[in-house]
Amino acid sequence: MTLTVEQRYKPYSEWTETEVQKIKNNAASSPWHVTFHVEPPHGLLNDPNGFSYFKGKWQLFYQYFPYGAAHGLKSWVQTESTDLIHFKETGTILYPNTSLDSHGMYSGSAMQFGDKLFIFYTGNVRNKNWERQTYQNGALLDSKGHLEKIPQTLIAKPDDVTEHFRDPQIFFYQGEYYAIIGAQSLDKKGFIKLYKAENHNYKDWTFIGNLNFENDATSYMIECPNLVFVDEKPVLLYCPQGMDKKILDYDNIYPNMYKIGQAFDTKTATLVAPSNIENLDYGFETYATQAFNAPDGRALSISWIGLPDISYPTDKYDYQGAMSLVKELTIKNGKLYQYPVETITSLRQEEKNFDNYPSTNNTYELELSFNQDSYSKFVLFADKDGKGLTITVDTKAGKITIDRSQAGEQYALEFGTIRSCDIDNRQTTANIFIDKSIFEIFINKGEKVFTGRVFPNQDQTGIAILDGKVTGKYFELEY
Ligand code: FRU
Repeated sequence: MTLTVEQRYKPYSEWTETEVQKIKNNAASSPWHVTFHVEPPHGLLNDPNGFSYFKGKWQLFYQYFPYGAAHGLKSWVQTESTDLIHFKETGTILYPNTSLDSHGMYSGSAMQFGDKLFIFYTGNVRNKNWERQTYQNGALLDSKGHLEKIPQTLIAKPDDVTEHFRDPQIFFYQGEYYAIIGAQSLDKKGFIKLYKAENHNYKDWTFIGNLNFENDATSYMIECPNLVFVDEKPVLLYCPQGMDKKILDYDNIYPNMYKIGQAFDTKTATLVAPSNIENLDYGFETYATQAFNAPDGRALSISWIGLPDISYPTDKYDYQGAMSLVKELTIKNGKLYQYPVETITSLRQEEKNFDNYPSTNNTYELELSFNQDSYSKFVLFADKDGKGLTITVDTKAGKITIDRSQAGEQYALEFGTIRSCDIDNRQTTANIFIDKSIFEIFINKGEKVFTGRVFPNQDQTGIAILDGKVTGKYFELEY
């Protein structure tokens, strides 16, 4: 069902119980629900928001439109976790219900102050002529789930940006609180603004400067910027929409990129000696990745497994979108590694050898190893003819290729059905997490990552080895 603008923005209270029940029933009938990933019960999930630690629990909110697979009036849904694997919805929803956020509680971040969780978000507002207004707002959530919105906007739109100014990320660095915000300049280029909280006051922000990170300035908007510190090095994760592919090639509609700096100079708003820009993920869908430095010292990230402006096979069931696993970020030899948090191994059941399996429950982890100078090809979500998600690991040619053209229902075809990345010709490992309609592939424990969706046919549940020698383990995962 395609929703009109009126339907997408009508107040939540105007959806009748019959309408909502129909949406719920429809969503429940999908064959593609995931098990150990976060997805919405119905409606659309997009960006991870407010990923933080508060009152002894990990907090993860998500952008949500409840009434179908559409981007409409957005709220934040709260989930909590004690192990970063099992996330539970608490029932707390942050609604767009003030004149500073009437058309959407847009993305943002969170951090504990005293006994409250400070939520820093973008209020999306449309005026009578449907012109967009944007406000950077705050709210305080107490440990009982009671929410109080701060009545005044915290950062007004500066004169040198268009109405595309959003997604504040608060972070703590060398004794001070800072925030970065994604922006579009008046000549329609994406950039990032840096602010500092005066006297540790989250209501009092001073502009420091436009973040200098050797921005190629070919994008028209930067969404969801995040600055996180990994081994003291600043890592900037961001989504430069419309970035020129000559700078760095990417296949998805919008990229999620990163740069590693050598230092962060807060006085001049500079990411010192930034690396070249890199693709965060080589798969079919990763966007709006949010990262933060956890109190235990780890740098943690989570991504939306989905993309803006793409229709998904689940749309007909009135839902869309999922979260990735939580990944820990590390730097080895100057490269960023992303790998699921250690607790993911708690889902492993009995260890078996990797082999041909005519049928699995499509909920498993593989831990595979490939020799130097080797070529192997195998199929996950395989039907009896070996058609499914084809993975080719060619260490000799230095390439890994993922082909989903025969894996169930096809979509986003204009962006291609194959993804690949270069690897070195050496012993290579792959940890592959399969969850019904999600795959997350971590090469060499996170040196390269492929994340994506497949929507398999009913008979696509097998594993088929087509070529080469693959050794490894198979663990069914139980949630
Ligand atoms: C990214 C994004 C953000 C915005 C949110 C709205 O996917 O467009 O920039 O805050 O989604 O849902």
